[in-house]
Amino acid sequence: MTKSVALSEALFERAVKRIPGGVNSPVRAYGAIGESPRFIDRADGCYIYDVDGNRYIDYIDSWGPMILGHNFPAIRESVVKACEKGLSFGCATEIEVEMAEFICVHIPHIEMIRMVNSGTEAVMSAVRAARGYTGRNKIIKFAGCYHGHSDAMLVSAGSGVMTSGVPDSAGVPAGCTQDTMTAVYNDLDSVRLLMEQAKGEVAAVIVEPVGANMGVVPPAKGFLEGLRGLCDKEQAVLIFDEVITGFRLAFGGAAEYFDVKPDLVTYGKIIGAGMPVGAYGGRREIMEMVSPVGKVYQAGTLSGNPIAMAAGLTQLKYLHSHQEIYKDLAEKGQKLYGSMERMLRERGFGYQVNHISSLGCVFFTDTAVTDYQSAKTSDTAAFAEYFKAMLGMGIHLAPSQFEAMFLSAAHTDEVISETLEAAGKCLDA
Ligand SMILES: Cc1ncc(COP(=O)(O)O)c(C=O)c1O
Repeated sequence: MTKSVALSEALFERAVKRIPGGVNSPVRAYGAIGESPRFIDRADGCYIYDVDGNRYIDYIDSWGPMILGHNFPAIRESVVKACEKGLSFGCATEIEVEMAEFICVHIPHIEMIRMVNSGTEAVMSAVRAARGYTGRNKIIKFAGCYHGHSDAMLVSAGSGVMTSGVPDSAGVPAGCTQDTMTAVYNDLDSVRLLMEQAKGEVAAVIVEPVGANMGVVPPAKGFLEGLRGLCDKEQAVLIFDEVITGFRLAFGGAAEYFDVKPDLVTYGKIIGAGMPVGAYGGRREIMEMVSPVGKVYQAGTLSGNPIAMAAGLTQLKYLHSHQEIYKDLAEKGQKLYGSMERMLRERGFGYQVNHISSLGCVFFTDTAVTDYQSAKTSDTAAFAEYFKAMLGMGIHLAPSQFEAMFLSAAHTDEVISETLEAAGKCLDA
């Protein structure tokens, strides 16, 4: 099926003249698959429509927050209602208190929470709070985990353990990453080693409890529990970056799903239902380090914006009172990703399908993917072919081998069957 994308292409031509790469976030550029991006006009339910009028089944879901589907009526209405009162006051509002209370009452490991404007800000602030609380500087992160683009987190992921991070981006001074150590995902020994090398210096271990920025890499049995134990032993703060998994794997995110209690949690887009929001929260004694109570400075003019809070709180309340959604998403995930696995085997491909609940990823490699090194064995050219063929059939996947597919409550069984049919045709071709 060939679709006209003339209007998208014309927009891209204009965009590249005024916006670096033509996009406001790099993955949108479709650079990894050698295409130009589709410009989106609107979205509804599980469908997204480009400016040329093409309709796609959307598995990006705005990178996660649209867990109820696009343009969910109750959320849209809450936004319209909030707008009628004004867009931003830069002052305290009741809805911020409601949001904080709602999260703290329903998520047992969160005693206090602070709203920010993005996942990047949430992580940057949580790391600062952990450093302020422990009086230590070193942070352990994992190769292949993405925690936003603050300087200390932009560390190049080497093949193994790294005691001192090398900046992964121009413009990041080496001094900013020298205290960022890198361990291997799903490898507790690598964490032990770093903790021994930096005895008494590790402020925090930060982890995506399900790796979702190197494709999808679930934690091995005992990995998160092991991190909890190591952090307890070394009195380091355990931070779960739940920007992807929060309110998605379960209402209480990965912490509830795996029954492991972090000290701090970072959230992103999902708590704003697609509005620009992030948050970090957790143990009271750590959060009370944050200004104006404590000496860890962190601020934001638009933080807790009333429109974003209205959207986010409506979504969270809906999820909380419809927790059957999580079972439904897990069943749909099993249908979609499980069937893909079967289709690959039937056709003699050794490719991997990693999945957990609504998150999934087809890795174009015969190697089991458990960490960043194994994820990188994927044949990205084969992925690009698959991506383009799927797009041509009206299936909107993330334009990179190393991103997740997101199912929402709006993806029906019929839509999943349609997706599988398209995937079968692409694999045959
Ligand atoms: C796990 C994780 N942490 C942090 C971030 C950064 O969030 P943002 O893009 O809102 O700054 C992302 C972005 O997708 C993410 O996936």
